[in-house]
Amino acid sequence: MSRERKTVNAQITGVGMWVPEKVLDNKYFESIVDTSDEWIRTRTGIQERRILEKGATSDLATNAIKNLMENTGLKPDEIEAIIVATVTPDYFFPATACLVQDNIGAKNAFGYDLSAACSGFIFALQQGASLIESGRYKKVVVVGADKMSAITDYTDRNTCILFGDAAGAVLLEPTENLEYGLQDSVLRVDGSGRDLLIMKAGGSAMPASKETVENKLHYIYQDGRAVFKVAVKGMADVSAEIMERNNLTGGDIAYLVPHQANLRIIDATAKRMGITRDKVMINIQKYGNTTAATIPLCLTEYYNAGKLKKGDKLVLSSFGGGFTFGSIYLVWSMD
Ligand code: COA
Repeated sequence: MSRERKTVNAQITGVGMWVPEKVLDNKYFESIVDTSDEWIRTRTGIQERRILEKGATSDLATNAIKNLMENTGLKPDEIEAIIVATVTPDYFFPATACLVQDNIGAKNAFGYDLSAACSGFIFALQQGASLIESGRYKKVVVVGADKMSAITDYTDRNTCILFGDAAGAVLLEPTENLEYGLQDSVLRVDGSGRDLLIMKAGGSAMPASKETVENKLHYIYQDGRAVFKVAVKGMADVSAEIMERNNLTGGDIAYLVPHQANLRIIDATAKRMGITRDKVMINIQKYGNTTAATIPLCLTEYYNAGKLKKGDKLVLSSFGGGFTFGSIYLVWSMD
């Protein structure tokens, strides 16, 4: 839809999040693989992450939406659509969105899962916004939820220190004041990077077998060094593009809200955008990389801490497996 023809924008009117209680700190990883707290902190910025001991991704998502409903007074039967961004669905099918819909009793909602790895939330937010902009839907819940511990090999030091479990959710509603809400997005995929960050088995390309289990092909595989290079460039590129398209300079932006995969990637993106550290949302130290959950987790924590105000210009940016890239420019409308 062209921006000129829109009669409503989608605005975020509520936020919520949920993280499991169990904490794995860097010291714990020193006891299970050949690593050190110092290496993990300096290479990634991560100090600890949360792990879900019992339950699945739908439980993470359900709890985040319950938190959203507590925060906003939203009733389950008012929800018209639930989009769950995840790469760790409870099942291939039914969709996690169906399980979440039933858990919260959203009897008037439809829903679906969206698979875009670490860009999942950004893609889903744009999808949700499109439903609102179409004029047909008034209350859409977008949730990013991942139980990364379900697909993490805790004997592989290259990946196990990076990931955690969490979920974050937002409510989207229309606003006729087009100065607020989602203004623009730049979304991309590049499947030529598919082999560099992948769960190799379990899908139709390589169905589960004794061999796939023995060869540990149901876990995350990542060529960290190669992905790092593409991530630094990719996230900075989409962020710079959305700034240019909207005539934004670093000084205009209240916050960069980056996917939390590595503090060095976040710093490189901020530098390219001309944004100082104090204007970058960061919580990677507490949760690690929670894939589709990182951005709504940041939004919820900063909003709850009173750090976001009406009229703030935000750029959300992500990079993930696929490869997937995305940035969204939005103007915050909540007091
Ligand atoms: N503890 C100690 N050493 C480790 C280690 C760990 N947990 N993990 C890897 N190493 C070692 C490597 O084996 C390598 O050793 P070698 O030189 O003897 O082979 C060395 O550290 C350097 O490895 P490298 O992969 O170059 O490190 P890095 O500085 O690139 O950091 C990542 C590794 C994974 C943190 C980094 O590459 C990264 O963040 N990649 C991108 C992640 C990402 O954005 N993913 C996409 C979104 S999900």
